[in-house]
Amino acid sequence: MANKLTTWWQNRKDKSKLDDQSMQKGVSLITVSDPKSTIAEQFRTIRTNIQFSQVDDQLRTLSFTSSGPSEGKSTVSANIAVTFADQGMKTLLIDADMRRPTIHQTFQIPNRKGLTTILTSSKNDYDSVIVKTKVANLSVMPSGPVPPNPSELLNTHKMDQIIEELSEQYDLIIFDAPPVGSVTDAQIIGTKVDGSILVVPQGIALKGAVLQAKDALDSVHARIIGTIMNRVSRKNGTGYYGGYYGGYYGGYYGKNEDKKN
Ligand SMILES: Nc1ncnc2c1ncn2[C@@H]1O[C@H](COP(=O)(O)OP(=O)(O)O)[C@@H](O)[C@H]1O
Ligand SMILES: [Mg+2]
Repeated sequence: MANKLTTWWQNRKDKSKLDDQSMQKGVSLITVSDPKSTIAEQFRTIRTNIQFSQVDDQLRTLSFTSSGPSEGKSTVSANIAVTFADQGMKTLLIDADMRRPTIHQTFQIPNRKGLTTILTSSKNDYDSVIVKTKVANLSVMPSGPVPPNPSELLNTHKMDQIIEELSEQYDLIIFDAPPVGSVTDAQIIGTKVDGSILVVPQGIALKGAVLQAKDALDSVHARIIGTIMNRVSRKNGTGYYGGYYGGYYGGYYGKNEDKKN
């Protein structure tokens, strides 16, 4: 497994500066391009764990966030969305990272209209901003043009209304949220969804930053339903993060943390 994953990682890393790569080219949908791979299988396991984390109520709205940019939120949320759709759930993936949007690139669609368009218009013309993808049961909503005041737009009754109305049309809505950092967007989204998942790039994010992100979500009573370790620690002296998804934990910093290397 390590070899294969390392190769994949190197290929991606060689192309250009990591930070902006997904903004320019989108993220890798390995669940689509190589659904039989170990990585795709790991995404399916994560999906199952998310489903089992909600025994009582059904999870209808979910957001993925992390402590900083470029930690894998878009990669993880898009691939997880595919696995839910593959299971027959009518799934909508929404790009709520208005400052660093990627979904339009990943799915090769225009970004002239999107979430911001709906948030700023008087009528909710969802059909004009939601695009069906080639993946059966998966639709996406790009971010739309970057507004000057993203946080204000998200923290509105209109946003609540959008979530409520779309929840009636889809079995699951997944938000690719911004990082919990200097802006409050992820916290706002966290208060509006059934559960938030923290993507933790092991070996990159400082533990303090991750704990701060957790505290920020806790402080607004956002419900963190799990964490996903992305890019398991450096191995083999390659200098690359060879591993991929470390796993999903129902609790914060699960005690099995060391198992997946
Ligand atoms: N586990 C991983 N292995 C290889 N590349 C990854 C992994 N996670 C993320 N990447 C890459 O890292 C970059 C940032 O990931 P992205 O999902 O766009 O992060 P974010 O949405 O948090 O900004 C992208 O180029 C993406 O393809
Ligand atoms: Mg992103």
